[in-house]
Amino acid sequence: MHWGKIVVFVLGLWLAASAPVWAQESPVLIQGAMDIEVRTLVERLEEPQAVVIDGWTYWQGYIGSQQVVVSQTKVGTTNAAAATLLGIQRFSPAVIINQGTAGGYPAWLHRGDLIIGATITNAGAVNAARREAGQGLEVREWSVRDEFGPVRWRSDARLVRLAEALKEVYPQGRVHTGTIFSSDRWSRELDYIAYWQKQENALGEEMEAAASAQIAAAYQIPYLCVRVVSNNEAAQEPWEPAKAERLASGCQEYILRLVAALQIR
Ligand code: 5AD
Repeated sequence: MHWGKIVVFVLGLWLAASAPVWAQESPVLIQGAMDIEVRTLVERLEEPQAVVIDGWTYWQGYIGSQQVVVSQTKVGTTNAAAATLLGIQRFSPAVIINQGTAGGYPAWLHRGDLIIGATITNAGAVNAARREAGQGLEVREWSVRDEFGPVRWRSDARLVRLAEALKEVYPQGRVHTGTIFSSDRWSRELDYIAYWQKQENALGEEMEAAASAQIAAAYQIPYLCVRVVSNNEAAQEPWEPAKAERLASGCQEYILRLVAALQIR
């Protein structure tokens, strides 16, 4: 009489043990800010379905057997926070990946190199030291402040390791793990860049990762930031639209490989 129950129990145990770490029922939410940062992903989606929520676009579909939602956050911190919150509420993602272009900080980091953002620091969360009128500005007196709450975020360690493991198959450049400095700023002063490179170990800057990391953390959703260097002031490598588009597409290819690797874990 108990045989039925026993079979169901054993089957349940087997299913639980053999299920991948990342539940396939919940989607992976992959974010990009600009058209060029989502286009390749959307082209690769199987059975794509566009959903627009309050002006932010999401494309639902599959990469292999993995459910994926591609989200175009639009540019900047406020857009990224809103798109992340709306995306979480609508799709309940198991993982959030924020990817796209970035400006490199060290001169040895070149266009095409990838930054795996193990740490993402809110670059707008700074305290300035007092200076009297006429004394000018001195960035080197600034410091990142966290007395009003956390401003540094971590990518999920297992996702960082998984991203690092794919570096051999990344054709556009080298892959580095480090800190992303994130705010609405586009920096071109070499003293500013060198200061934060030293002070915060920043490898590069962009405009969305800290905002989406903060919202992901509020919901305890494993998060990963991966950015391709599309420009670098210190290396005298400017943003060139056609080149940036190619590099952004290569970054999305990397993410596609990562999503495929998620399934086989
Ligand atoms: N500084 C700031 N944001 C950058 N981006 C690319 N390079 C930089 C840079 N040097 C990204 C931002 C934003 C868009 C303007 O490009 O994340 O989405």
